[in-house]
Amino acid sequence: MSVQSLKLPTILVPDHPHWPQLSDVERDAMKQRIAEKLKAQNAVLVAHYYTDADLQALAEETGGCVADSLEMAKFGAAQEAETLVVCGVRFMGETAKILNPEKRVIMPDLGATCSLDEGCPADLFTDFCDDHPDHTVVVYANTSAEVKARSDWVVTSGIALPIIEYLASEGKKILWGPDRHLGNYVQRITGVDMLLWPGSCVVHEEFKSVALERIRRLHPDAAVLVHPESPEHVIDQADVVGSTTALIKAVAEMKNKEFIVATDGSIFYKMQQMAPDKVLIEAPTAGEGATCVSCAHCPWMGMNALHNLDKLLDSDENEIHIDPATRERAVIPIQRMLDFSVQQGIGMKGKGNA
Ligand code: 13P
Ligand code: SF4
Repeated sequence: MSVQSLKLPTILVPDHPHWPQLSDVERDAMKQRIAEKLKAQNAVLVAHYYTDADLQALAEETGGCVADSLEMAKFGAAQEAETLVVCGVRFMGETAKILNPEKRVIMPDLGATCSLDEGCPADLFTDFCDDHPDHTVVVYANTSAEVKARSDWVVTSGIALPIIEYLASEGKKILWGPDRHLGNYVQRITGVDMLLWPGSCVVHEEFKSVALERIRRLHPDAAVLVHPESPEHVIDQADVVGSTTALIKAVAEMKNKEFIVATDGSIFYKMQQMAPDKVLIEAPTAGEGATCVSCAHCPWMGMNALHNLDKLLDSDENEIHIDPATRERAVIPIQRMLDFSVQQGIGMKGKGNA
C-alpha cells in the first residue's frame, strides 16, 4: 500500500464551543468549588497549554500541572493522587491511563479529540505498517491507544529530533505517522528519509506564509515562534521552531520585545505569565476575513472549561478505559520515549529541544 493510495477519513471539525460568560465573582466561586472537590476526591488536574486560561490557572493553584504533552505524561505517573483529571484532548487522557492503569483518569469531554488522531484510524495504519515490515514505526503522541500499540516508538514534538537521530544511527528505516508537517520538518533537520503518513493538524495547517511575511515587515524586530505542526513555508520563517514548552522558553529567554506566535493562542496565558513585559502577536491564519474555523484555537481543546469540569466532578462519567491487551502493547513505545528522555535529560526542568 502506497501513501498515495491511502483513503483517509474526512475529519469533521466541530464548531468552537461557546461557554456562558462568568463574572469575576462567579468564576472565583466556581474555581473554589472545583478545588474543594478535587481535594475531597484525591484528584489532581493535568492541563495542556492550549486549554482555557482559567483551567491553567486552576491547575497551578491546586498543585496540578500545566505542561506540554511530554511533561503531562510524566507528571501523572509521579502523582500519588488516585484520580487524574486530564484537561486536554483524548490522546492525552489515554496516555495518562496507559501509564497509570491503577488510577482513575477522567476528562471534561471525551469527545475532545484531535485531527491527527482522527486522520489515522488504527485499522488503516496497521495495514500500512504491515505492508512495510522492514520499517521501525514511530508515531506522534497525538494518536489513539491502538495506533500506539502498533508502534515501536512514541514521540512528542519535544523529543522527536533526538529519537529519529538515534534510530537513524542504528541504521533503522523509519515509518512516521501521522503528522506530515512535523515529519517533514524532522526529515529536513536530521536528513533522515522517512515514509510519512499524510495527516495534519487543522489548527496549525491554517497558518499562512504570505500573510506572515507581511506581518513580519510590520514588526521587523519581532522573533517568530512556530510549532512544527505548521506548514513548511511558515516554519521557514521561524526564529525558533519547537514544542509548546520550547516556544514558552523562547519568550522568557530571548531579548526581543515582540513575538509573532504560530501555535494555539491559549499558550499566551503561560507566555505572558513568564514574561509579562513582552508583546505577543498571533501569527495570521486565513489572512483577511479569517473565520472561527481558522482562528488559531483548537476546537477540541476548547471543549475543556470550568463549567464541564465542575459537573464532571459531581458525576462518575467520562472515565478513560483502555482494553488491557492494547494497553500492554501501547505502554512499551511510550515507556521507551520516557526512558530515552530521562537518559538524554530532555523534558527535565530547564531542558528541552524542539
Ligand atoms: P506539544 O507536544 O508541543 O505540547 O503539542 C501537542 C499538540 O497537540 C500540539 O498541537
Ligand atoms: Fe490536535 Fe492540532 Fe488540536 Fe493539537 S492543536 S490537539 S494537533 S488538532
